[in-house]
Amino acid sequence: MANKQGRATATVHACAKINLTLRLTEARSDGYHGLRTIFQSLALHDTLTMWRTRGPFRIECDDPGCPTDRTNLVWRAAALVWRAIGRRGEPRGATVRITKRIPLQSGLGGGSSDAAAAILGMGQLWGAAVPRAVAHRIATRLGADVAFFLDGGTALGLERGDLLFPLLDLAPAWVTLVIPPFGVSTKDAYQWFDEDDALAQRAQDSPSTGEGVRGGLGGARGVLAASAVARYRQLPIGEFRNDLQAPVAARQPDIARIVRTLRRQDAEYAAMSGSGSVVFGIFGSRALAVRAARKLATAGRRAVVTRTIGRAAYAAMSEPK
Ligand code: C5P
Repeated sequence: MANKQGRATATVHACAKINLTLRLTEARSDGYHGLRTIFQSLALHDTLTMWRTRGPFRIECDDPGCPTDRTNLVWRAAALVWRAIGRRGEPRGATVRITKRIPLQSGLGGGSSDAAAAILGMGQLWGAAVPRAVAHRIATRLGADVAFFLDGGTALGLERGDLLFPLLDLAPAWVTLVIPPFGVSTKDAYQWFDEDDALAQRAQDSPSTGEGVRGGLGGARGVLAASAVARYRQLPIGEFRNDLQAPVAARQPDIARIVRTLRRQDAEYAAMSGSGSVVFGIFGSRALAVRAARKLATAGRRAVVTRTIGRAAYAAMSEPK
């Protein structure tokens, strides 16, 4: 595409995700945790507009909380694409404007999705196609969940979350996202899990205190109502749970309160997404999702209603235009 001045442009929608389930399987020697997760794409998205400019690579963002320097994953994605297409030194000749709708530090993967959008768009803008395998390699260097955002839809993620297996698209569902007034750092959430796990292990070794510690951590699990069984029958619903939810809720009790309220508002399933802080509820109708959003948008929280999207819709949204 070209803008009014005849310069090349590319626009890519970077969709959010939720984790329908997130189980930690083992501590890895590279400092990461092994995962078994099911990612699900949402229609909620940031928009990246890229165009050719003179001089050094630049990022603009309408959210003051979002860095625009080389710590932004979009900058790092652009630098890796620049190298992959055979250019030397620092990336040049392009500006990316990020219009943010996905909240920061929310567990919705906004930064990772923006990075994947940059991988998909920058090669086209610079006039050199990035082969799929190269795009995947760049994605996994940038973060554990960036690779998911190359294809989206519903996918099982193993290892760091970057060994991906596409799953059948789910029946479309309405999703209410409740955004607390605080964010959670991914690194902190995993660290809290480790700390609490070590505590629970020690408590288990001394039976008199074990129950108390386990009970204290167990209060904020996501719950799947029987009515959701038909909708999610192709998934291992008995295992749906977010292992990061209890350690985060132990430090931020509002998370557990939101999960409980979403259930009372007839959510078919409710849980924290990823490492938080956003909590999602899945609803069978838009009316129920909107009613829950109205109920929960208090006490400094925001609530957004969106939809799940399948792989084909995701491909259409993330294709550079
Ligand atoms: O990959 P990403 O940069 O999003 O991860 C941020 C931090 O979250 C990692 O440095 C690591 O501490 C933690 N993490 C983890 N296991 C994962 C994903 C993230 O321990 N599978």
